[in-house]
Amino acid sequence: MGKKKILVTGGTGYIGSHTAVELINEGFDVIIVDNLSNSSADSLDGVEKITGTRPEFEKFDLCDKAKVIDFFNKHGDIEAIIHFAASKAVGESVDKPLLYYQNNLNSLINLLEVMNAKPSISLVFSSSCTVYGQPEKLPVTEDAPIQKATSPYGNTKQIAEEIIQETIAANPSMKAIALRYFNPIGAHATALIGELPIGVPQNLVPFVTQTAIGLRNELKVFGNDYNTPDGSCIRDYIHVVDLAKAHVVAIKRLIESKNKRNFELFNLGTGRGVSVLELLNAFEKSTGVKVNYKIVERRPGDIEQVWADTKFANDELGWKAQSTLDETILSAWNWEKHYRNK
Ligand code: NAD
Ligand code: WQD
Repeated sequence: MGKKKILVTGGTGYIGSHTAVELINEGFDVIIVDNLSNSSADSLDGVEKITGTRPEFEKFDLCDKAKVIDFFNKHGDIEAIIHFAASKAVGESVDKPLLYYQNNLNSLINLLEVMNAKPSISLVFSSSCTVYGQPEKLPVTEDAPIQKATSPYGNTKQIAEEIIQETIAANPSMKAIALRYFNPIGAHATALIGELPIGVPQNLVPFVTQTAIGLRNELKVFGNDYNTPDGSCIRDYIHVVDLAKAHVVAIKRLIESKNKRNFELFNLGTGRGVSVLELLNAFEKSTGVKVNYKIVERRPGDIEQVWADTKFANDELGWKAQSTLDETILSAWNWEKHYRNK
């Protein structure tokens, strides 16, 4: 039997490129679609160097319905889709809400239309812990109530989950898994692929590594007066390779029909909460490099603390994040050094 073909949308991006590697390593045939709005096709070189295989790649916008239909007509052998493609900058989504609703929802709807017509194609969707807002109970479980989104970006993830769920309810031969990522960080151990934010990084770890390497003068730590042990916010930082591996498990679950419901939802985190100051200490200790930082005001919209209850994913998927915080941070640092010294 031939290799199973998986469409990875957004596959030249951060999480998509790491997932392409894990899929190829597990014997899948990967075809990537990306419009390169937030990534570069250079990541394909990295994937090829790591795996020895260059994934097929087509550049187009998934919001273009005619192109999506043409694509699936041409590639009738696609068994499943991992839909990473989306715009993901929280602050930008507040300034440009329509861009976010257009891009994140239209791309999804176009794929669901194809699946509706051919339900043997299953879907893994990139959701986010942002849907939980500030949970009342920690660690947060998948059945925790969804809270009103604090940004249009967050709202697109809530609405997307609903759209998938309702579409499947109307066509029960369809199936999908939504994965709610906590905070993905780090890079592939080879440092050949990694996170490449365009412009000034909004997320903590790329800002830390860019400060440590001298590209930024100072990291601002947003608040030390939260109700947490050291006063800084707490998150669940998960190694992107652990996250990528969970996608392979989810794809196999769908392809092998091991899913228990047609729509399933899993938290993907480590189960460990780490504060901003703890992460900085861990960075300095594991790399031996000091980070120039200053405590400043809280960042509006930040959640005080959130980390995942991973039991459901651990038990049902048989998957568990393996990397330690130190390993994860070191991989981010190695990527930064490798990329800047190219
Ligand atoms: P990324 O920006 O690196 O990758 C997304 C890719 O999608 C980019 O390469 C971009 O060019 C592409 N893309 C965007 N719109 C497109 C369109 N209309 N047509 C074709 N390609 C398009 O982001 P990432 O960090 O790899 O995130 C992947 C997914 O995971 C996103 O859906 C994101 O919302 C979600 N997510 C990310 C995080 C995180 O912290 N990185 C956390 C939770 C969820
Ligand atoms: C982590 C912590 C900051 C930068 C965002 C999205 C969320 C999800 C992941 C997609 C916070 C602090 C940060 C800095 C800092 N994405 N920080 N100085 O906010 O948990 O989540 O990315 O779904 O939806 O909201 O991640 O990396 O921005 O921040 O002190 O320069 O680091 O306050 O406590 P966040 P982050």
